[in-house]
Amino acid sequence: MNTPPSPFVARIAAVDPELGAILQREEVRQSQSLTLIASENHSSPAVREACASLLTDKYAEGYPGARYYGGCENADLAEDLARRRALQLFAGTEHVNVQPHSGTTANLAVLTALARPGGRILGMALNAGGHLSHGHGVSHTGIVFQPVHYGVDPATGLIQLEEVRRLAREHQPKVILAGASSYPRAIDYPGFAAIAREVGAVLVADIAHPAGLIATGVMPSPVGHAEVVTTTTHKTLRGPRGGMIFCRKDLAKPIDSAVFPGAQGGPLMHQIAAKALAFGEALRPEFRAYQQRVKENAVHLAACLADRGLRIVTGGTDCHLILVDLRTQNVSGAEVEARCRTAGLAVNKNMIPGDPRPPKQTSGLRVGTPAVTTRGMGRKEMEGIAEVIAGVVQGKEPESFRARIGELARAFPLP
Ligand SMILES: Cc1ncc(COP(=O)(O)O)c(C=O)c1O
Repeated sequence: MNTPPSPFVARIAAVDPELGAILQREEVRQSQSLTLIASENHSSPAVREACASLLTDKYAEGYPGARYYGGCENADLAEDLARRRALQLFAGTEHVNVQPHSGTTANLAVLTALARPGGRILGMALNAGGHLSHGHGVSHTGIVFQPVHYGVDPATGLIQLEEVRRLAREHQPKVILAGASSYPRAIDYPGFAAIAREVGAVLVADIAHPAGLIATGVMPSPVGHAEVVTTTTHKTLRGPRGGMIFCRKDLAKPIDSAVFPGAQGGPLMHQIAAKALAFGEALRPEFRAYQQRVKENAVHLAACLADRGLRIVTGGTDCHLILVDLRTQNVSGAEVEARCRTAGLAVNKNMIPGDPRPPKQTSGLRVGTPAVTTRGMGRKEMEGIAEVIAGVVQGKEPESFRARIGELARAFPLP
């Protein structure tokens, strides 16, 4: 490990060598390997610096203009800036709450406001690509509310709206959730909205994963179809870690109260400042071009993996992520994840529709292009990455790819 630390880490190492060494190891890990985890990205140095700003010291319970602490005038300005830019970024939105600490807290707050404890919610099952915070039994959202789940067609991997309609009619949920963690296709928001209208449910679109693609028009937006949209800010949107909720004006009050004081205490003002900065970056034309490349890279990577004999769930992708079905390869997702790590690729094991293996093993691999696209990679690099993934899956020695991935990482440094 002879790469020198960044000036930022060097300053930390000067006051705390033990932590400094850990942070340096992480700099080395990220810069010398490739992140293909679909939910991760590399934020800009400016976003990271805003996260480290003095606003971390400020308590600002409440909302701009109505705080429970003095000295919030600059916190108000930062939060208003984040809100203004967020509304501009997602055209057609009426109200936004930028305080959720994470996507999970955003979902918990929205469900608390709209379904009320004990209320029925209908969301996508975890093993079909949904998220824990959509009513899974180990999440508060599955403990506090009464969850019902829809899956996907095991043969095609696609959401069946007729199945969603049947479950909605049968269970009469208060909230229907449309959104996923590992669904590679565009979601039919008008179709979901029609079902929600039919049964009198509120439609919540969780766009945590494709938010950046949606903000830039690279994928269709749920705005205007879903009454509420929740998201994270750190995946394709490339901001700091956090969550955000958009809603119609008439839902603003109960949702804001469900965030604070319902689900959280004081907002993380340094993160909100960094959200403002990231939204400013996302409003620039370059960000749209970046999102287009993220999708083009994913489509090309999926095609290259398929050419090398791997089965891609749904046959391809409309977004930034690809789900590889390993069932015919005689290897589990967990084994491939570990082998890829040795080769210098960070990927994650993932359940596939109808997965015969348990969640700690899985028969699938989720691969995403946001982070490598941020580093500037394109078609040619996707071909190289596909060769390594396919080689590793098909039993080649992972160590044999390490130098090649290291070279690629050096040629495309972190921002
Ligand atoms: C669809 C979806 N919703 C919510 C979340 C939760 O986000 P967080 O990890 O910030 O709580 C995720 C995270 O992966 C997600 O994929």
